Amino acid sequence: MKPLIIALALVLALPAPASAGPRPPRDLRELAHQQGIKIGSAVNIAALRDEADYRKMLNHQFTHVTAENAMKWESVEPERGRYTWADADALVHNAHRNRQRVRGHTLVWHNQLPAWLTEGVADGSITPRELKGILRDHITTQVRRYKGKIRAWDVVNEVVEEDGSLRQSIWLTHLGPGYIADAFRWAHRADPHAKLYINDYNIEWNAPKIETTFSLVKDLKAQGVPIHGVGFQGHLGIQYDYPADWANVMRRFAGLGMEIAITELDVRMVLPVTPEKLATQAGYYRRALTDCLSVKACKEFTVWGFTDRHSWVPGWFDGEGAACLLDENLAPKPAYRALLGVRAR
Ligand code: XIL
Repeated sequence: MKPLIIALALVLALPAPASAGPRPPRDLRELAHQQGIKIGSAVNIAALRDEADYRKMLNHQFTHVTAENAMKWESVEPERGRYTWADADALVHNAHRNRQRVRGHTLVWHNQLPAWLTEGVADGSITPRELKGILRDHITTQVRRYKGKIRAWDVVNEVVEEDGSLRQSIWLTHLGPGYIADAFRWAHRADPHAKLYINDYNIEWNAPKIETTFSLVKDLKAQGVPIHGVGFQGHLGIQYDYPADWANVMRRFAGLGMEIAITELDVRMVLPVTPEKLATQAGYYRRALTDCLSVKACKEFTVWGFTDRHSWVPGWFDGEGAACLLDENLAPKPAYRALLGVRAR
């Protein structure tokens, strides 16, 4: 035998070294690449501008971003016909410079609408007919502006109530349920390559809400409406059980041909923080990523803020907080390390 062949045979005969396989990821970006998934965060635009450590961490760790507020209607059109794109533009620009994809959030919602719109509808100065035109123009203008730069749009956000009825909003009341299909069609026309999502909370576990959302997606598909994905917000709290059926729910929607994303994950706790609560929280984050990775159609795992320094939780849930992966000083919490330990794909 030639020496080369002998050497080769020897190598093949040896047991694999203990360190075989990819080495543990150093950070979320590396984890994302190893697992073939996008890992994202919501972005606080003021912090992105003003806090160098925040900016550095965001750009280093994440492969996907969502504007926490900068793309909402009240942010982009505070007065009728006067558009303010500076913040949204800055976010998209920063993302592209740092090889991050972008989720557009959100086109149709009942919250954070500009006052001119809600007041105009309330006092009747905006008629239902006009309202439909306003919604169409809003969707068309915003989606066109970022054509080719937004991977996925949350076209409709939170359109189902907890009891499984369609949400009472100015859209349902004045335009009827057809506004949902219209919104997807208008968005698709404005950017045919963007993935168009329905996004909601509590569809990780709440049966009536899940069933209505499921029928809605099924009907939209049957009508040929361009809908491509289902976003699970995933606002969890450790005082509630982890939604144990979540992966199965994801699989059901995937069965309709939908792409899946976790779009706004955070795991809050009743304060004060204790080591035990942080350990429980770490388990929730780990399970959420494991669930997503167990479903082939789940392509994105996004957290609603990555640091307790900038989180919506304390302002919205009395006495609760500490919901993010990093603490106020950007030090990793057990949840961050738990994510790095997940091996699923
Ligand atoms: C929240 C933001 O985080 C807050 O800063 C803002 O004051 C209110 O909205 N579901 C959504 C998000 O789809 O847009 C919400 O974001 C959180 C709940």
